[in-house]
This record gives sequence, C-alpha cells and structure tokens, in this order.
Amino acid sequence: MTLPTRVTLCEVGTRDGFQIEPEFIATDDKVAVVDLLADAGVPRIEVTSFVSPKAIPQLRDAAEVMARIRRRKGTRYAALVPNDKGASNAVAAGVDVIHTVLSASESHNLANVNMTVAESLAKMRGVMEIAARAGVPVQTGIATSFGCPFEGDVPLARLEWVVRELVDMGARAVGLADTTGMANPRQVTRTLEHLMPRFPGIEWTLHTHDTRAMAIPNILAALELGVTNIDASIGGLGGCPYAPGASGNVCSEDLVHCLHAMGVETGIALDRLIATARRVEQIIGRALPGQIIKAGTSDRRYPVPDGVAARLPRSA
Ligand code: COA
Ligand code: ZN
Repeated sequence: MTLPTRVTLCEVGTRDGFQIEPEFIATDDKVAVVDLLADAGVPRIEVTSFVSPKAIPQLRDAAEVMARIRRRKGTRYAALVPNDKGASNAVAAGVDVIHTVLSASESHNLANVNMTVAESLAKMRGVMEIAARAGVPVQTGIATSFGCPFEGDVPLARLEWVVRELVDMGARAVGLADTTGMANPRQVTRTLEHLMPRFPGIEWTLHTHDTRAMAIPNILAALELGVTNIDASIGGLGGCPYAPGASGNVCSEDLVHCLHAMGVETGIALDRLIATARRVEQIIGRALPGQIIKAGTSDRRYPVPDGVAARLPRSA
C-alpha cells in the first residue's frame, strides 16, 4: 500500500454528530468537548453550524459555542453554513474557515436546505464573497457525492459539474461527502481518479459515514490516491436528519488508531481522544459505535490463561 506519511483529521462530531441528538446538549458540554478535542491535538474541528434554528434546533447556540471555546494554537476552527446568512454569522463568530454544504443530487438538496442545486450554487457565490471580504478561507462540501438515498446513483458527470461550478466561483478546497454510506472503495478510487486530474491544485477532503461498514476501506482508497484530509467524528457520532437510515461518521479514535498502527502520523494523542469519546458517551448518555473504546488499542495485552503458561514451549 502507498500511504501518505501524515493525515490531517477534521473532527466533525460536534456538528455532524450533535446535530441529530434529540435532547439539547448543554452549551457548556459542547464547549468542553471542543476544548478536549483541541487539547488532544486535533488540527481541525468543525465546531458547529450556522443554519436555521428551525432546521437544526440542537445547534442554535452556535455563536455562543464559538465565543466560549479556548482557541488552541495549531487547531483550525470551522463551522458549516448553507447560505450567505450563515456565512455572515460564522464570520461574526470568528471562525477560521467556513465549510459550505450543498448536495450533488436535487432531492437531497431540497430536503436538506430547501433549495434546488442551482439555487444553492447561487447562494454559494454570496458565501464566497462574504468570506473573501473577511479574509476567511472556504471549503466547499458536496453531500451525496457517491449516491443519494432518494435518487440512487449520482453520475460522475453530475458530480464533476457541481465541482466545476464551485471551482469556477473560486473554490480551492472541496470536500466529497458520502452522506449515507453508499460509497465503496473502488467507487472512491474511480471518482478521485476522474476528478483529481481535471481540477489540479484543489485540496480534497473525504467525508465518510460508516452506515454500511465501508468508511475505513473508503478512506484507505482515498489515501492511496494522495488525499490527506479526512473528516471523522468522535465515538462515531453522527447522521443526517434528512437521510433515512444514515448513521455516524467514521469514528475518529478508530481511524486514528488504524492510521497510527500503519505508521501514518496525525499529530493526535490517541489516549486523549479515547478519553474524549468516553466523556461524549457520558454527555449523551449512551454507548457510541466506536470499537477501540470497547476493545482497547491493538497493543493491549492480556494475562496468559492458567494452564497455558506452564505448557508453552521454551522458545515461545
Ligand atoms: N442561520 C440562521 N437563520 C437562517 C439562516 C441561517 N444560515 N438562513 C436562513 N435563516 C432564517 C431566515 O432569516 C428566516 O428567518 P425568519 O423566519 O425569522 O424570517 C428563516 O430562516 C427562513 O429563511 P429562508 O431563507 O426562507 O430559509 P428556509 O426556511 O428555506 O431554510 C435553510 C433554508 C438553508 C436556512 C435551512 O434549510 C437550513 O438551515 N438547513 C440546514 C440543514 C442542515 O444543517 N442539515 C445538516 C447538514 S448536512
Ligand atoms: Zn456527514
């Protein structure tokens, strides 16, 4: 396998994860989780989103969360926005980077942001202008890049068209999102092999959901092609309110464990990340899908069972 030496992880649990929690999570707890993630060395955090509080009531405290987090040097704090109003609010709240969202498929975009893709693209122009005026970089994300829960296949030509529109309006960083876990590793390879040479100089991010247990295989496919920006969520929190059956993102601590085991650096202290996942479990009051939190890391050792030690051959 050809892997990069280093991967930059963007933690999205406090946005993609928290947004579907039905019980309001106290602002103090949200702030505490963001600070713990930063203390663990997470280089990028999608802290929250600036969206309609009617659409996502859980994140109605976005500005307050942004105001109260401790800003660690070395961590870039982002927020997700769907339109110009969100961009203005995000800039006012002092984000380091704006993440935008629109879907490649019409039905998902209408369900998620109540706009056609063309209407969303028009809004993105406004977002870009606001961000440029404020000197804030933008990463444009494309939901349902690998399939739509309503429409099925999203043709590569369609995805390419959306990327082209975004790049033509100035996008330099593009996130491809597998919103409902429909992608498979060969499809990720095919998609990136198609897009990367057509859009040279673009910084690509892969955003996965582990809905069908293919998130890490999909990430490996992207890493082999040189993508080094990967979204993940603490404990595997996450879902999409407008995508039936969607489940959490790839689990941050599971992914970091996998990368470190292969000698790929992340700059993240895995023990601190695991401790943060435990804290998140306490906050939301249920066990999360992450595996490492249950199994321990692969260097965990158990005492040799009774009767086995005495029978071990001398050389063992
Ligand atoms: N932040 C806060 N409020 C916003 C907003 C934003 N970014 N954008 C619009 N609003 C407000 C408007 O001011 C208006 O308020 P009012 O009723 O008090 O006048 C109201 O929302 C309706 O505005 P409108 O432009 O008609 O929006 P809409 O009802 O068509 O909703 C979105 C469009 C994009 C704002 C909404 O669908 C949304 O926030 N979606 C985000 C969904 C999401 O986060 N999904 C998960 C991420 S993948
Ligand atoms: Zn997502």
